[in-house]
Amino acid sequence: MTQTVTVLGGTGKTGRRVVSKLRAAGHQARPVSRSTEVPFDWQDDSTWHSALTGAKALYLVPPALPSQQVALVPGFVRRAVEQGVQRLVLLSARGIDRADHPDALTCERAVRDSKAAWTVVRPAWFAQNFSEEFFQPQVVNGVIAAPAGDGKVPFVDAEDIADVAVAALTDGRHAGQIYELSGPEALSFGDAAALIGEALNRPVRFLDIPQEDFVRGATSAGLPAEHAGLLAGLFEVIRNGWDAQLSEGVQQALGRQPADFKTYANRSAAEGKWGEPK
Ligand SMILES: NC(=O)c1ccc[n+]([C@@H]2O[C@H](COP(=O)([O-])OP(=O)(O)OC[C@H]3O[C@@H](n4cnc5c(N)ncnc54)[C@H](OP(=O)(O)O)[C@@H]3O)[C@@H](O)[C@H]2O)c1
Repeated sequence: MTQTVTVLGGTGKTGRRVVSKLRAAGHQARPVSRSTEVPFDWQDDSTWHSALTGAKALYLVPPALPSQQVALVPGFVRRAVEQGVQRLVLLSARGIDRADHPDALTCERAVRDSKAAWTVVRPAWFAQNFSEEFFQPQVVNGVIAAPAGDGKVPFVDAEDIADVAVAALTDGRHAGQIYELSGPEALSFGDAAALIGEALNRPVRFLDIPQEDFVRGATSAGLPAEHAGLLAGLFEVIRNGWDAQLSEGVQQALGRQPADFKTYANRSAAEGKWGEPK
């Protein structure tokens, strides 16, 4: 059945893909963020009403930081349900249930305590962090520098995350599920750099750096200090090998295997994410 779906973070790595996949399946998708035609800003609740008008389902990309903005999420979820949203799909994160932060589960609780049908999607690190985010310029320059050591991560393709989110937004069978998503193999940052280099046919190497150097470099590149600190904490988890396990959420939700990193790297190189397409 065709329905209107509001997609938060509609310009971001997963939201943008959720919008195109919903539209391709014949649904009405309304991408919203601070820069969309229908604007939505967590910090301006006068934008919330029109972002939600007519929506029966909501893809909820929460604010990225454990800051005051996270405290806005429960109120926003209540507003969404009051305005007629019946299905909520939350983009959460793998490991959030083990995170040592009082706000960590605020968003998951808000969704699970709501009167709507809900699905929680907890992905591992996105492969697209190398091509659409923070590390993209470093890949272009041939050196990925991070305090990751030999720690391994089963990077997950944002295409798979979006496929799971769209399934949950459009099919009631996913209600009440928490899907932990990973790619099919755990890779070190060095492995990831080598695979991207192979896809680009030029050397890309990984440089292990101290955490303080990473935070200094990230903040001087314009990342807010709170975000840089959060990232540094995530790298500690990776470095210690605590994020290396595989998860089966793609298989559980979609009945197929997740894409591997090599496929992601080849596709991204061909799309010109790191310069001239090959
Ligand atoms: N990246 C990863 O590896 C990873 C892994 C697991 C979980 N996650 C989770 O995924 C979520 C998204 O993070 P991401 O880093 O991947 O970002 P992203 O979705 O690629 O980009 C963030 C999105 O949020 C929008 N946005 C930013 N500030 C906003 C505000 N004040 N009000 C409304 N919208 C705003 C941005 O658009 P505008 O700038 O146009 O507003 C953009 O569409 C986070 O909750 C993160 O914890 C990420």
